[in-house]
Amino acid sequence: MTQSLPKAMITAMGSYLPQTILTNKELEKVLDTSDEWIYSRTGIRERRIATVNESTSDMAAEAAKDMLDKYNLKADDIDLLIVATVTPDMFFPSTAALVLQKLNHSKGWGFDLSGACSGFLYALSVGNAYIRSGMAKKVAVIGADKMSAITNQSDRNTRILFGDAAAAILLEPSTDYGILDEILYTDGSGKDYLYMPGGGSRNPASHETVEKKMHFIYQDGKTVFKFAVKGMEEVSEKILRKNKLKGSDLTLFIPHQANKRIIDATTERLGLLKNQVLINIDRYANTTAATIPLGICEATDKKILKPGNLLLLAAFGAGFTWGSTLIKWGMS
Ligand code: UT7
Repeated sequence: MTQSLPKAMITAMGSYLPQTILTNKELEKVLDTSDEWIYSRTGIRERRIATVNESTSDMAAEAAKDMLDKYNLKADDIDLLIVATVTPDMFFPSTAALVLQKLNHSKGWGFDLSGACSGFLYALSVGNAYIRSGMAKKVAVIGADKMSAITNQSDRNTRILFGDAAAAILLEPSTDYGILDEILYTDGSGKDYLYMPGGGSRNPASHETVEKKMHFIYQDGKTVFKFAVKGMEEVSEKILRKNKLKGSDLTLFIPHQANKRIIDATTERLGLLKNQVLINIDRYANTTAATIPLGICEATDKKILKPGNLLLLAAFGAGFTWGSTLIKWGMS
């Protein structure tokens, strides 16, 4: 009898949210904007902001510790740590190295993965491959971003959209439950619509890059919006069709939280009911790589998912990057 490959099942999770809450009302005082505009155009009411001393690796390590504590695990159990982020503490060493050091773990290995808002789905895919191949037994995947570190505080187009957070999950082999399928894309022709021009090898940090505010996010919101709706809808429909499923077969859809209008368009296209979709953009805004694992933590806290339930994840972000992951939930 041929033995089928194991699936990568989510067996633990944890999160970290900075304490400081920045509301739309507070932003009204410092930017030419309004709670009404922000909420009606994006679905955001408030976001969490990390302190100046709190970096992405600090938040990621707290999320990992929360997971280890809740599920009675030891850091040394982790074979591989993948940190999805676009806001690493620094270019090198990697955020993963810093997190492993904060966890006092020097027996495993880890690296960062840059996939912007699709970073968590990309990292999940890599973790899936390591589990399925048998190259690792326990893979921790963290989505962590301190977006406030790269957001121009006087730009109303971007500052209102983002928040800071980190969330972690653990993947382990299972014969019955786990990741069933994934479809991922990257199209670099989207590079001019959402990016941070300064600080890399193209435009190394200089007085000029600072003066020209090149170390901040730039976004052509309208264009990204159009591609995001199309990308999220198409890839989510495609993965359902490929697996001979309908929207009504899903227990839960956890989309990347960039704009509630993008989420609504996708859920409408898939024919999902309100109670099939997890939305927390109102409380946390767009935390880039952290939105989906935060959603997984929230769904677990609320005991929405039972073993055998189908969970769909979808994301769209800078690059462009996008994709969808289908999971047969295994935790009770
Ligand atoms: O996660 C990564 C992927 N990112 C996304 O998926 C984001 C996709 N894009 C979006 O979510 C939306 O395009 C935004 C929320 C960024 C913007 O919403 P929009 O409906 O596309 O607005 P807009 O950029 O077309 O702006 C409409 C108007 C403009 O004024 P005029 O030209 O009509 O006079 C803007 O100047 O709203 C103005 N505006 C604002 N007004 C108040 C732009 N930002 C603000 C603001 N407050 N914060």
